[in-house]
Amino acid sequence: MNIDVFTLFPGWLDWFRQQRHVANALALGHSLDGVDLRATTPLKGGQVDDTPYGGGAGMVIRVDVVEAALEARWDADAVEGRGDRRVVALAPAGRQFDDALAAELAAEDELAILCGRYEGFDERVHTHLATDVVSIGPYVLAGGELAAMVVCDAVLRKLPGALGHEDSVQEESFSPALEGGPEYPHYTRPAQWRGAGVPEVLTSGDHARVRDWRLQRSRERASGGD
Ligand code: 6GU
Repeated sequence: MNIDVFTLFPGWLDWFRQQRHVANALALGHSLDGVDLRATTPLKGGQVDDTPYGGGAGMVIRVDVVEAALEARWDADAVEGRGDRRVVALAPAGRQFDDALAAELAAEDELAILCGRYEGFDERVHTHLATDVVSIGPYVLAGGELAAMVVCDAVLRKLPGALGHEDSVQEESFSPALEGGPEYPHYTRPAQWRGAGVPEVLTSGDHARVRDWRLQRSRERASGGD
């Protein structure tokens, strides 16, 4: 899978790329590249944003700047290029990111992620250049870069081989194996700690009972009974 992150701060990805599961994914032949929106701007002096029509605070990233960056990267028309890949614009007002969307994106060969800054993108980036507008939660970040790393983290760890232990992706929070519910509680040594023990079933060696217990705990958490 090839992921391009279009951003004004491509250097933000450098640290992320070095993290174990990301490095594993890259070693397997996947790619994660930062693409500098400023490098291809058609405007003078590296300008990428402009004042909002109608007035108000802040600056808005121009649609022609994003268009130029996509076309330089793809060597194709920016609107038609959407036919070949998902183009995810990150914005606080977008569709909320979840495990199902992460799985959907992980099935793609090519992904473009657009990171906004300031007051965000001109709306025509969302309507004409993106296939999806995605938010990582109901709060406002200074820019889309952290959100892009959240999305990439969730997507890359679903790629076969990225984690080095495939079971953990199969049966984890929100996965179909747990009926979309949260993960069950985990315990490890010591068996006794400050008087707090470990559920007996987990040390019973009875795998069927363990499986049943875990599914029950996941269901309890899903219904708010944690
Ligand atoms: Cl995708 N971008 C920004 N700037 N803030 C956010 C967000 C995205 N998701 C939640 N808050």
